[in-house]
Amino acid sequence: MIILQTLKETKEIIRKIKKEGKSIGFVPTMGYLHQGHVSLIHQARQENDFVVVSIFVNPTQFGPNEDFEKYPRDLDRDAMLCKEAGTDLIFHPEASLIYPDNYMTYVDVNQITEKLCGASRPGHFRGVTTIVNKLFNIVEADRAYFGQKDAQQVAVIQKMVEDLNMNIEIIPCPIVREADGLAMSSRNVYLNQEERKAALVLSRSLFNARNAVSSGLKDAAALKAEIISTIASEPLTNIDYVEVVDARTLRDIEKLQGEILIALAVKIGKTRLIDNIRLEVR
Ligand code: PAJ
Repeated sequence: MIILQTLKETKEIIRKIKKEGKSIGFVPTMGYLHQGHVSLIHQARQENDFVVVSIFVNPTQFGPNEDFEKYPRDLDRDAMLCKEAGTDLIFHPEASLIYPDNYMTYVDVNQITEKLCGASRPGHFRGVTTIVNKLFNIVEADRAYFGQKDAQQVAVIQKMVEDLNMNIEIIPCPIVREADGLAMSSRNVYLNQEERKAALVLSRSLFNARNAVSSGLKDAAALKAEIISTIASEPLTNIDYVEVVDARTLRDIEKLQGEILIALAVKIGKTRLIDNIRLEVR
C-alpha cells in the first residue's frame, strides 16, 4: 500500500493502472476510520483490481460553527485499517492543494439538497458534491462506494453523476452498527458515557418504526409522531429533524408505500448524529 499527498504522483499511478486495463474502486472518506468505512473498502476490494481510499477532511462541507477544527484525525491508525482491508493507495492531500488561493468552482445539486441535512446545514452538500467531483476527476475510478449511513449524500451524488453524465458507478453500501445498534460514526468519539447510552434511542426509534410498519401502519405522519415521541422521551436529546420520505427522490410522502426512507438527525448534548432506515412497504 502506498500513501500519496500530491496530485502529480497520484495521477501518475492512476494512469499506469488504467493503462494496464485494471479496474479501480474508490472509497472517499474524511478519515478516523471505523468498521463502517472498512466495510466499504472490503466491498471495493472484492469488485475491483485496484482500491483507492481518500482521506481528506473537506473544509467546504463544514459550516462556520461546525466541527471542522476538532474533527478527529489519526492517519497512522487509518493507514493500518486501510492496509488490513486491502487498500492499494491512500490519497491524503493537503487542503491548500485541493483548494488553492484562487479556487473558484463549485458543484451545486438543487432540490434534493434542500431538505433533511441540507436544510439544517446550508452549503454542506455543495461542499460534498464539489469535493467528490474533484476526487472523481483525480482518481478516475470505475466504481465509488458510499455508505447508506449518509442516505441523502448517496442520493445527491447519484443525482450529480446522472445529471452530469459522469462515467462512474455509485455503489451504495449498508449501514454498519455497533452491537447495541448505534450506527458507527467518526463523531461517536465526541459522546461521553451518558450521551453514548442516550444515543441508542436513535436506532431504537428506527427499529420500533420498522416493527410498526411491518404490523401494518400506513400513515407517515403517525409514524413520524411515534418516532419523535420515542426520541423525546430521552432527556439528553434535541431533535433536528425526523422525516419519512420516498427513498429515491427524498420527497415527503403521506402514505407508506414502496421504498421509503426514515431519516433523522438528533443532537445528543453538543453532538449531532444522523441515522436512517430504508423499508420496502408493500
Ligand atoms: P465520512 O463521514 O468519513 O464517510 C465516508 C464514507 O463512509 C461515506 O460514504 C459514509 O456514508 C460511509 N460510512 C460512515 N459511517 C458508516 C456506517 N456506519 N456504515 C456504513 N458506511 C458508513 O461522508 C463523508 O466522509 C464525506 O462527506 C465524503 C463523502 C468523504 C466527502 O468529503
